[in-house]
Amino acid sequence: MKPTPDQALSSVPQIQPDDRKMLDVGPLAIVGGCGHVGLPLGLAFARKGYQVDLIDTSTERVAMVNRAEMPFHEDDALPLLKDTIQSGLLKATTDPTALEDASAIIVTIGTPVDEYLDPSVGEFDRSMNQLLQRVRPGQLVVLRSTVFPGVTERLARQLEQSGRGDIDLAYCPERIVQGQSLAELERLPQLIGGATRRAAERAAALFQLITPKIIFLKPIEAELAKLFCNAWRYINFAISNQFYVIAQQFEADFHRIHQALREDYPRMQSFARPGFAAGPCLLKDTMQLGAFNHGSFVLGQAAMMINEGLPYLLVQHLKRSYPLNEMTVGLLGMAFKPDSDDPRSSLSYKLRKVLLLECKQLLCSDPLVPDPELTPLPEVLEKADLLVIGTPHSCYKGLSFRQPVIDVTATIRG
Ligand SMILES: NC(=O)c1ccc[n+]([C@@H]2O[C@H](COP(=O)([O-])OP(=O)(O)OC[C@H]3O[C@@H](n4cnc5c(N)ncnc54)[C@H](O)[C@@H]3O)[C@@H](O)[C@H]2O)c1
Repeated sequence: MKPTPDQALSSVPQIQPDDRKMLDVGPLAIVGGCGHVGLPLGLAFARKGYQVDLIDTSTERVAMVNRAEMPFHEDDALPLLKDTIQSGLLKATTDPTALEDASAIIVTIGTPVDEYLDPSVGEFDRSMNQLLQRVRPGQLVVLRSTVFPGVTERLARQLEQSGRGDIDLAYCPERIVQGQSLAELERLPQLIGGATRRAAERAAALFQLITPKIIFLKPIEAELAKLFCNAWRYINFAISNQFYVIAQQFEADFHRIHQALREDYPRMQSFARPGFAAGPCLLKDTMQLGAFNHGSFVLGQAAMMINEGLPYLLVQHLKRSYPLNEMTVGLLGMAFKPDSDDPRSSLSYKLRKVLLLECKQLLCSDPLVPDPELTPLPEVLEKADLLVIGTPHSCYKGLSFRQPVIDVTATIRG
């Protein structure tokens, strides 16, 4: 019988020399390996000389990676991808039999929420069940996707009950900021929640190859830590957005207050600037935490209403100053954050929906986002009577505009 996680952590796990050796018996396999988390992680291991197989269901992404093309932007990733593909250290495949030879398997597939903002666990469970059919006795399986709390221990119990308790399972959350993964993976401590002490030690040996520091937690603690991290950030943005709305109501300049409060005052240095709080993780993980806590997460739910309400607020603000129904409006920047090519859960798309109801014509543009429905920038600049900057990409900074420009972030920032 394996020890429980509590027994596993009654003393700090120690990495054994054998744990390191076990990593040399075969390549690392990353499931979901061509995604925003999986690919930089694969590159980080390959950069250290480890053989990595990226297993992904997207034939398009697999083909791109094997042609040494990045499917999305990550700082400094392209030259490393070219080197590691050329040297044969990194390869991508849709074939799950690649799992069979792996020394360790890391799972980085998506864990979305459904239309009710509840975790869509069905898809993740199906993928995990298929994957676990292929896992060999003695293999290490690391969950790195952001999972619903309790998933690691539930899977470990299922493995134990089906006589496959010799598979070592750990949860090791990803905490990078998208776009800067390769720099951050080398800097950030790695949280490790092993279902058993042995799993914790093996996962630690694995991440020690790329990470300076390991911190051990129980699986439920590591799972909650990841959700707390994203919910904490999301709520902080909401505080600033709510303060912005209050300041605006009383005709006070939020931006000046923000600057004044932070000047030579250490306790307010982390006071976030207001603006769109979007992207594939913050809202989703705040809602996962709410669902986990039986639907009760008042602060998180209030944060969602504030952050998701900003596009409506902006359009109300615009309507007071411009006859939108007579105007062609250009919306510049559709990615969820500046200088990113990722449009997932971007509030610019929500702003587009609201603006579509109000203006005569709406033209949306983003030089980084590969969306065939977008209009090229020169055409937007030529046709628009009014421009709204949804995502302040650096490339907009040097432009001169003939029409009025509303910078969402500047406007929302007061
Ligand atoms: N993007 C981030 O910055 C970030 C940061 C921390 C944690 N996370 C978490 O990491 C997970 C992955 O996020 P992402 O942004 O990399 O998503 P993504 O959509 O970019 O990548 C997921 C990849 O998994 C592939 N995939 C889906 N099902 C598969 C299956 N059954 N087998 C093999 N491949 C499969 C997809 O084709 C895709 O390439 C999520 O749980 C997310 O919450 C993301």
